Amino acid sequence: MPKKASFIVTPWEVKGEVDYEKLIREFGTTGITDDLIDRLAKHTGDIHPLLRRKVFFSHRDLDWILDKYEAGEKFFLYTGRGPSGHTHLGHLVPWFFTQWLQEKFGAELYFQMTDDEKFLHNPGLTLKDTVGYTYENALDIIACGFDPEKTFIFSDIEYSKTLYQIAVKVAKHITFSTVKAVFGFENSTNIGMAFFPAIQAVPCFLPSVLKGRNIPCLIPAAIDQDPYWRGVARAIAPKLGFYKPAQIHSKFIPGLGKGGKMSASEPETAIFTVDTPKTAHDKIMNSFTGGRATVQEQREKGGTPDICPVYHYYTVFLKDDKEVEEVYRRCKSGDLLCGEDKLRLSEVVKNFLKEHQRKREEAKKVLEKFMLRD
Ligand code: TYM
Repeated sequence: MPKKASFIVTPWEVKGEVDYEKLIREFGTTGITDDLIDRLAKHTGDIHPLLRRKVFFSHRDLDWILDKYEAGEKFFLYTGRGPSGHTHLGHLVPWFFTQWLQEKFGAELYFQMTDDEKFLHNPGLTLKDTVGYTYENALDIIACGFDPEKTFIFSDIEYSKTLYQIAVKVAKHITFSTVKAVFGFENSTNIGMAFFPAIQAVPCFLPSVLKGRNIPCLIPAAIDQDPYWRGVARAIAPKLGFYKPAQIHSKFIPGLGKGGKMSASEPETAIFTVDTPKTAHDKIMNSFTGGRATVQEQREKGGTPDICPVYHYYTVFLKDDKEVEEVYRRCKSGDLLCGEDKLRLSEVVKNFLKEHQRKREEAKKVLEKFMLRD
């Protein structure tokens, strides 16, 4: 786990300006090459904008997943959410991409809601809170357009009978010194957290157990979740006779403040899917930007879109590459001022939220169809 002065990335904390190349080296993952994207495109036809724009930038064994697929062995997808509050726009990044993978590969998706993890980790949350957010967040997941026939959402707390039987087999192979080294646990960490990594490893093998045959697993997520796979799931998979799970990692969508990822623990700098248009607008208008101190300076020197959250959201919410490039170019040249830029983003985000909230309401009618139960 890198804990360098300039940035920190753990499953519970992302701070500072993340150097993704450095992260690839320190986590020991592999960068996604253009060749690998071309190989993927042979199966998907088009390429998702988040891949084209290198928001998904790193992987483990994605080439192996494609080897298997090309040899006729289908994989399943696994991703998750720690329901500590409402969903924010950052969470949607891996979900949009997962939905695309599901559609293109016809893959089943197992979606873990770690209401146990969030209860254990957050002193202020009760189990009732986190299980409640499981259902609130599930509406956002369904609103992303997943296939009801192929998507299985489960709460760790409620689906525990099935999960626990696999978790103990995983846990038996993980020592305390391993989780200390991988996650930075200390003597003061509660023992629930020390056990929890076994629970997050379970879905990597769950379909193989349920169906009685080994099935390859691909996990799309931001790179903060990598320690779970590197340190636990991939390390013990061969000991239990399973394939090692493969991963595809995204970068973080920044918060509206300076540096760090969008995070529910900083609600003023996060846009939640349940925010009203006015709240979203106000947050965007108060955002940090890559702009200069004065209009004159901005006109002369241009802005710095690379460090600007406003620009980053365009890379997620605008479909057309040309429009994204245009924003970048106009910002850099000093032609585009931050006020205009924020107003436009506010419109884009408000339109997105309106549509998402409509689908979220619809999702209430079909929620139970998506839930996996013991
Ligand atoms: P959680 O709830 O912290 O995050 C849910 C998913 O969102 C990603 N993410 C982000 N992606 C882009 N930009 C951001 N600002 C941002 N913030 C969060 C996370 O990487 C994650 O993919 N322990 C997990 C739940 C979990 C899980 C999994 C996640 C269980 N099994 C398998 C991914 C894959 C958690 O608390 O995620």
